[in-house]
Amino acid sequence: MDLYEAIHSRRDVRRFRNEPIPDDVLERILSAAHHAPSVGFSQPWRFLLIRSEETRREVHRLFDEANRQAREAYSGERQELYDSLKLEGILEAPLNLCVLSDHRSSSPVLGAQSMPETIALSTCLAIQNLWLAARAEGVGVGWVSILDPASLRRLLALPDGVELVAYLCVGYPESFLEWPLLETVGWRHRLPLRDVIFEERFGSQPADVSSDEDAPPPRSQG
Ligand SMILES: Cc1cc2nc3c(=O)[nH]c(=O)nc-3n(C[C@H](O)[C@H](O)[C@H](O)COP(=O)(O)O)c2cc1C
Repeated sequence: MDLYEAIHSRRDVRRFRNEPIPDDVLERILSAAHHAPSVGFSQPWRFLLIRSEETRREVHRLFDEANRQAREAYSGERQELYDSLKLEGILEAPLNLCVLSDHRSSSPVLGAQSMPETIALSTCLAIQNLWLAARAEGVGVGWVSILDPASLRRLLALPDGVELVAYLCVGYPESFLEWPLLETVGWRHRLPLRDVIFEERFGSQPADVSSDEDAPPPRSQG
C-alpha cells in the first residue's frame, strides 16, 4: 500500500473480527513503531501486550466508569448522540496494547532538557507508525482514552517513571470506514486545510492554499 493511501484510509477502529493477528504481522507492525524518530534517539516507547480476557474485562470496566462520567459533559440531543457511539473495542479486539514512555534514563536525554514533553511526543510518533503499518497490513487500531489513568496504572502494575501514553485495541476490523465515524454522525467535521495553516505569524493565513480535497460524507443519524 502506498503511504498516502495508508494515511488517508487509516481509521480509528472500534469493531473487530474475532481473528488473531499472526506473529509475523504483529512483529512487522511493532518494528515499524520501533523505527519512529525519537528525541536524542531515546526510543522511550514500550509496548505492553494484553491478550488475557480477564485483564481486558477489567479495563472494560474502567472504560464503563469513565464513560459514564464523560457523557455528563453533554446534554439533550448531543448526549443522546454520544450514547449511541461505540467508543472502544476492548473485548472484541484479540489484542490490546498499552503504549508507555520510559523516563527512567540514567543520563539526560539529548534534546529533551528544554522540552521534556518531547519524550512522550516521540512515543506518539511510534504510535502513528504503528497505526499506519497496521493499516497497510489490513489490521485495525482503535485508541481508547476514556479510562482513568491512575486505575489503569494500578491494574497494569506500571512502575514510577513509566508514563502511560495510550491504550490501543488491535485486530482485524469488520471494515475500514471510509470517513471518520465522528464525521459521519455529524459530531465534528474535518477543518478545511487552509484554516490550519498560517504564514510568518500565528493567525495570518497564506493566500494560496486551496480548500480541502475531501467532500463531506453523507450525514447519518448515528
Ligand atoms: C489521542 C487520541 C485519543 C482517542 N481516544 C478515543 C476514544 O477514547 N474513543 C474513540 O472511539 N476514539 C478515540 N480516538 C479516535 C478519534 O476519535 C479519531 O481518530 C478521530 O475521530 C478521527 O477519526 P479517524 O481516526 O477514523 O480518522 C482517539 C484518537 C486519538 C488520537
